[in-house]
Amino acid sequence: MFAYIGTKIVERSLSGYAPDLGYRAHRDLGAAWIKSLGDTWESESITITRGAQEAFLILLCMHTQPGDPVLVEETTYLGLAHMLRLRNHHMVATPMDAEGIMPDELNERARSSKARLLFVSPTLQNPTGATMSLGRRQAIVGVARSNDLLIIEDNPFAALLSGQRPISLSSLAPERTFPLYSLSEYVAPAMRVCFMRCPSAYIQMAGGRQACADTRRALSAGGDRGGVAAERNSQEAV
Ligand SMILES: Cc1ncc(COP(=O)(O)O)c(C=O)c1O
Repeated sequence: MFAYIGTKIVERSLSGYAPDLGYRAHRDLGAAWIKSLGDTWESESITITRGAQEAFLILLCMHTQPGDPVLVEETTYLGLAHMLRLRNHHMVATPMDAEGIMPDELNERARSSKARLLFVSPTLQNPTGATMSLGRRQAIVGVARSNDLLIIEDNPFAALLSGQRPISLSSLAPERTFPLYSLSEYVAPAMRVCFMRCPSAYIQMAGGRQACADTRRALSAGGDRGGVAAERNSQEAV
């Protein structure tokens, strides 16, 4: 499947920039791959980022200002912690047990911090390896809904599981969850490819932020990136 991505790239002109959300053929492939993992996403809701870490940055830029509180697991992924420090975010550490973050603790911290974003890795959490049961996932989603939290669901290891995979948080709360499926652990980190699903209200905004994250394009085009992104996406040919 992923060899096909390479052939599609050489078929097109190398003189222009790719659409902000990624080529349609690649987004279709992402949707097919993720369906094979048990999640059904519309291609239109998918954007392709340079690894999960670029997706973190895009989501932080979309939903927070530097310095804002962000809810994280008590022991969280180093790549995320570096990025939060870079933007001076207050990391609100949420205590964990053998299944990951605990709903009551999350509720308390969400209320007191007034954070808007929750970062969580519900399957094979890095570094603890914790995987949430269905009941825990439902409870976390319930807390997110009652506190109006948006969820970044990082799933870098889910594809490595065989057999029945746990239901994703994004299936339980599609209106507020941004699931990330990076190819770093599944294929190779050097590929810098991650598929991110956005709730429909946010997909165009994600394209605009993605254009900003690419400094070469931002420098050459300048001005209102949101408008430019919308125009480029509507011209997408594949
Ligand atoms: C928790 C977590 N998220 C994401 C990634 C992958 O990040 P990226 O796609 O930027 O390589 C890893 C890789 O080890 C990880 O451990």
